[in-house]
Amino acid sequence: MKILTLETTCDETAAAVITGEFEVLASVVASQDDLHQRFHGVVPEIAARAHVERILPVIDETIRQAGISLGELDAIAVANTPGLAGSLLVGLVAAKTLCVALNKPLVAVNHLHAHIYACKLASGEEVFPCIGMIVSGGHSNLYRCNAPSSFEYLGGTIDDAAGEAFDKVASMLGLPYPGGPAVSRAALRGNRKAYHFPRSFLNDDSKLALSFSGLKTAVRYAITGGAASEFVRPDLSEQQIADLAASFEEAVVDCLVGKAMLAVRQCNLKTLCIGGGVAANTRLRSRLAEAARDANITLHIAPIELCTDNAVMGAIAVERFRAGLIEDLDLDLIPGLVRQ
Ligand code: KG4
Ligand code: ZN
Repeated sequence: MKILTLETTCDETAAAVITGEFEVLASVVASQDDLHQRFHGVVPEIAARAHVERILPVIDETIRQAGISLGELDAIAVANTPGLAGSLLVGLVAAKTLCVALNKPLVAVNHLHAHIYACKLASGEEVFPCIGMIVSGGHSNLYRCNAPSSFEYLGGTIDDAAGEAFDKVASMLGLPYPGGPAVSRAALRGNRKAYHFPRSFLNDDSKLALSFSGLKTAVRYAITGGAASEFVRPDLSEQQIADLAASFEEAVVDCLVGKAMLAVRQCNLKTLCIGGGVAANTRLRSRLAEAARDANITLHIAPIELCTDNAVMGAIAVERFRAGLIEDLDLDLIPGLVRQ
């Protein structure tokens, strides 16, 4: 069995071919970082237009690398939720068109579930049932994952996602986009205790909630020295930037580790899976490893190359296809205003 998976939820145009044995025959990711860099964040209209230009060359290249013909595919899978509406639409239309032209079934992929599924794919081990945490530019959610097609939302951020906070803080510190890797690099030379930033909900064991907007504001005030209405970055020394980055990163990591472990305790599960762009963060990975060791649970973090958006994690579609979860061609996109 061979499935073509498409991923266009945000600002990466990606495709992959995965076999029924979960072998990756090809994987292509066309990043748009260069287009969004000067805006310090993804501009939805620019992202959608870039997907339109790139989706066909990306599919062609993926099929070429896989060494197969389109006719040999058994199904077409596409991430239809959540994401930017204009971006999702491009992948969805491409997938449906291929289904009609080739007379193949359509499989839907939830992008967040796929990020967590990357852990199972990479480890080759059974991970279900587990607590799954997705930490990305758009989401910071916790799930009880019962099976590949059964994810129960437990809680998450009530405002900004962790990755969004990394991107905004990078912008305030004058660091490049995407902010996560840049802040993380700067943090290596900084003192994590130089600034005491808020850790929302961390001491409240009754809530599986996260919040990063107050933290963003606290970093802003620490930079400007007060609540000025307009943000003007003062001259910051390398050490100040490093200290701010390190103190901010530690606050985010404290919250993510704290709530992931709380979910594990509340659900009494022994496995924790973490995926999404922010899961590439070195400090987060080592703190999670430490916490998992102390709690005697099994930890799976997606390998770095599968943390940021890609179509390989769309391998969750193989499980859905096998379970008979085929979609009608009127499948719609769901940008993501619902908890899922
Ligand atoms: O999963 P992803 O590629 O896209 C979404 O679905 O949002 O995640 C992108 C996010 C960006 O906010 C980026 O700054 C963040 O992941 N990120 C990181 C790191 N690498 C990427 N955040 C912290 N540390 C990193 N090393
Ligand atoms: Zn993502």
